Amino acid sequence: MKQRTCVLIKPDGIEKNLVGTVLNRFEKEGFHLIGLKLVPPSRPLLESFYAEHAGKPFYPGLLEFMLSGCFIASVWEGEDVVGKVRKIVGATNSKEAEENTLRKLYGTDNRRNLVHASDSPNSSAREIATLFNISELKSKENDSNGQS
Ligand code: CMP
Repeated sequence: MKQRTCVLIKPDGIEKNLVGTVLNRFEKEGFHLIGLKLVPPSRPLLESFYAEHAGKPFYPGLLEFMLSGCFIASVWEGEDVVGKVRKIVGATNSKEAEENTLRKLYGTDNRRNLVHASDSPNSSAREIATLFNISELKSKENDSNGQS
């Protein structure tokens, strides 16, 4: 099924100069990039994005880390892209992530885990709406390639 997913490259990914590496991994899989931007840290925006985790023990640390620098927000389109991207990203804790996943290769731990990827089509719709205006996403109407 054709889906969309939202991928963040967290402040540690930018700090380690891994933005191109992460984007390239998804491009090589054949997924289509339909939205991309650098987002400056904003508490209200991150509180909205991570609302489902409010009250959990790791939430204050998660926000503090995400507020430590800019992050990259991206939207990818493709067949079953939500699950496929989650596989490439790996388990939440970089130390426990599967071999060759982005988090295993480049992440540090639970918090400094390089990337976020939507866990379901419902989450991706909410996350994309939180971070992007429709006009910022590639579509048949605004792209003469007409790929999406
Ligand atoms: P992410 O995919 O961005 O979604 C929520 C984030 O919370 C997750 O990646 C982790 O960075 C963080 N997180 C989840 N569980 C823990 C945990 N047990 N300890 C610290 N951070 C966590």
